[in-house]
Amino acid sequence: NKAQAWSARFSEPVSDLVKRYTASVDFDKRLAHADIRGSLAHADMLAAVGVISAQDLADIQRGMLQITQEIDAGSFEWLLDLEDVHLNIEKRLVELIGDAGKRLHTGRSRNDQVATDIRLWLRDEIDASLHQLQQLRLNLAGLALEHAETILPGFTHLQVAQPVTFGHHLLAYAEMFGRDAERLQDARKRINRLPLGAAALAGTTYPIDRLRVARTLGFDDICHNSLDAVSDRDFAIEFCAAAALVMMHVSRLSEELILWMSPRVGFIDLADRFCTGSSIMPQKKNPDVPELARGKTGRVYGNLMGLLTLMKGQPLAYNKDNQEDKEGLFDTADTLRDTLVIFADMVSGIRVKADAMRAAALQGFSTATDLADYLVKKGLPFRDAHETVAHAVRMCEDRGCDLADLTLPELQALHASIESDVHQVLTLEGSVSARNHEGGTAPERVRIEAQKVLKALSES
Ligand code: ARG
Repeated sequence: NKAQAWSARFSEPVSDLVKRYTASVDFDKRLAHADIRGSLAHADMLAAVGVISAQDLADIQRGMLQITQEIDAGSFEWLLDLEDVHLNIEKRLVELIGDAGKRLHTGRSRNDQVATDIRLWLRDEIDASLHQLQQLRLNLAGLALEHAETILPGFTHLQVAQPVTFGHHLLAYAEMFGRDAERLQDARKRINRLPLGAAALAGTTYPIDRLRVARTLGFDDICHNSLDAVSDRDFAIEFCAAAALVMMHVSRLSEELILWMSPRVGFIDLADRFCTGSSIMPQKKNPDVPELARGKTGRVYGNLMGLLTLMKGQPLAYNKDNQEDKEGLFDTADTLRDTLVIFADMVSGIRVKADAMRAAALQGFSTATDLADYLVKKGLPFRDAHETVAHAVRMCEDRGCDLADLTLPELQALHASIESDVHQVLTLEGSVSARNHEGGTAPERVRIEAQKVLKALSES
């Protein structure tokens, strides 16, 4: 059993099944670059405080360079016998440079090492996802600007409620994704602290310089308690929670895209590259991408629940349970990033069918509230105005026409205060442009808000 780094204490080898059961190298090898970065920073610090020699450091740097090249070239041999990414790299380092490689692990444990690796890796993932989120918001705002005047029905309870501009509807998602970006940025602050130096759990007897390592690795701070540093994965949970919220928003958008693309609704068309056909029904063009995103949202929620549950029963400090933090976390990061890349592209390729939107907004008495507001401005109390318009809607329903189709005398029969200016109020354009306040749906507002998003993003 000489392969294991910890083998001397053991009298019999583990069975093959136990080996496979406990090994993580198949999935944690994707932390390799972070692991090497962490090791180089650790070695640099050990040399600076005189725990290893300058020659040891130079050897470690040379060895790690070669290992990086081997990994990048795909020639690095990952061994299940060596359990995880850390021991695989360390073993290869010793093979390449001898004793200096054996000194690298001085004052360090895999417990603080892995916690550092995950943070380094996750920090990069967050930065990449933030970039994609920004791209998505840019494309939403761009499309919103184009459709500041395009009108579609706004819904409550999935029933036509009031007309809104399509640009306004798109900007609602830009807002949601903006908050998502804030949450990721906020989580990043707590991720960006250095566990290394905590060693196995209690710290180390060597005169280490943790701030130096933190600086080298670009961490804003260190973890201030060694037990906490090696044991908690709350930072990963926070990321998974933020990712779950992004996906929740993506899923709502998906639901709308699917609905809008349904031939029954026909508000938009998605570019062919995001859809597939049916193997049996020749007429179909299915919105596979939004449907999959809606489905993958469930998996991302599951990963969050998995991590929360993983942590809840663990006494301090490190327990091997924590090795189970990785696959769900990796899956979440991959799903988030891929989804955002695809959605940014898909959104900018939405083909808007403005005529269908408009036709739908003309059904369902979407300007009924406008008529009530009109009567209020003529002096009626709102409740009476509401009642009067309800009568008007009934009349229209009986006749199969819209409010705007009622003649002035017909409207005046409902209430004497109604004058010829009422028809302006009953049009879709009149309805949306009257809502011209901050946060309102008026085309002018949409232009202002879309420009704001575009400007903020181009400056960041
Ligand atoms: N592969 C382990 C993990 O991912 C590294 C830490 C192992 N530490 C230990 N004491 N077994 O958590």
